[in-house]
Formats: sequence, structure tokens, C-alpha cells
Amino acid sequence: MTRGTFITFEGIDGAGKSTHIERVAQLCREAGRAVVRTREPGGTPVSEKLRELVLHEPMDALTEALLMFAARREHLVQVIEPALARGDVVLCDRFTDATFAYQGGGRGFDWQVLAQLESMVQALPDGALRQPDLTVWFDLDPHIAAERLASARVPDKFESQPADFFAAVRAGYAKRQAEMPDRFARIDAAQSMDAVGANVSRVVGAWLGRDGA
Ligand code: TMP
Repeated sequence: MTRGTFITFEGIDGAGKSTHIERVAQLCREAGRAVVRTREPGGTPVSEKLRELVLHEPMDALTEALLMFAARREHLVQVIEPALARGDVVLCDRFTDATFAYQGGGRGFDWQVLAQLESMVQALPDGALRQPDLTVWFDLDPHIAAERLASARVPDKFESQPADFFAAVRAGYAKRQAEMPDRFARIDAAQSMDAVGANVSRVVGAWLGRDGA
């Protein structure tokens, strides 16, 4: 059986990642793989309830980080791990890098505490840590992202933050990439939608080929 593949999509709000996930799903299906598309926070009934709370209610920074990880734990146990065990490709719109970027970078919450929570929540039975196989990071200047968001939907708690916050979130992503460079693919999200799409397809296609799909 093909082993499962865990691909995550990251970036500041307005970077445009969601548009490209369906194209990646098609690419994976064309490569003969079953695909599970999901998101964080969310992806299970309990995690979606936590999403509503965390995106709309003001709260203490540790409470916010704990709720992100609580939603993640449920998502891993109920959806991600079973799909990977079946050999599926899991395409997840945000995962733990978002917690390091938003809560660690944006909010300035303690990076080491986040690392402790990560090691608790993502521990596998053999003691290894579940991490994405590939993380596609849509990197974009926060001012360009703000212009794109201005014409979009009603902003949630994070989307309504100022550009400084997103500059710190972006720095959080860069720090995370520096810590785990092997699984990160940085995409310049300032390019046209077609150019970004072509880059994303190339990166994911190369990964699937290497993975023996
Ligand atoms: P989305 O709008 O891309 O679905 O993401 C929801 C928001 O939640 C987005 O502003 C980023 C934020 N978020 C965090 O702050 N920490 C996390 O761990 C995750 C997964 C998302």
C-alpha cells in the first residue's frame, strides 16, 4: 500500500492559498491518489466548534494556543491519522506552523511552550512526531495581502489585525522554515495567480513523483 502523504498550506491571511488547494487535489487524483481535503482550526465537528470560538471571541494568549492545539488533537485522531493510515493524500489548509506563526510570531507567545504543546499533541505511538511531509508556504508582503483582503469577506479576529501583526506572523513562518527547511517549499505569492498555480503544481508534482505515487 502507498504510504499516506501529508501536505499543508500556509501563509498570512490574504496570501491566496485557498484558491490553489483544489488544483492540488486534482493533481493528486490524476496521480491515482485518494485525497482528503481539510482545514485548521476545524476538520471535525468538535474542532469546528472550537474554530468558531477562537476566531470570534477575545481571549487570553495561552487559552488561544491551547484551543488551537485541542482542535488539532481531535483533527489528528479523527481525520488525519486514519487517512494517512489508508494511504491517502491529506491536504490541510493550515496546521501547526500557523500556531507558531500567529500565536508565536504575531502574538509573541512563548515559542518553547508551543514546542512543548506540539510534542504532546503530535506524538505518534512509536515516539516520533507527526509533521507534514510537505508544507507549501505562500509568502507575501503584508501590505499586498491587506489590499487583497480589503475587498474580501467580513474580517474575523485575525484578519482584522494591522499590518505589523502580519509582518510578525510572516517572520514566524520564516523562523519555522529555518528550523525545518526540508519540508518547506516557499512560493512567492506576489506573482500572478497563474504563475503561483504553476509553481505550486511543480512543487507538489515533484514531491508526488519522489514519493512513488
Ligand atoms: P483561515 O481563515 O485561513 O481558515 O484561518 C483561520 C485563521 O486562524 C487565520 O487567521 C489564521 C488563524 N490561525 C491561528 O491563529 N493559529 C492556528 O494554529 C491556525 C491553524 C489558524
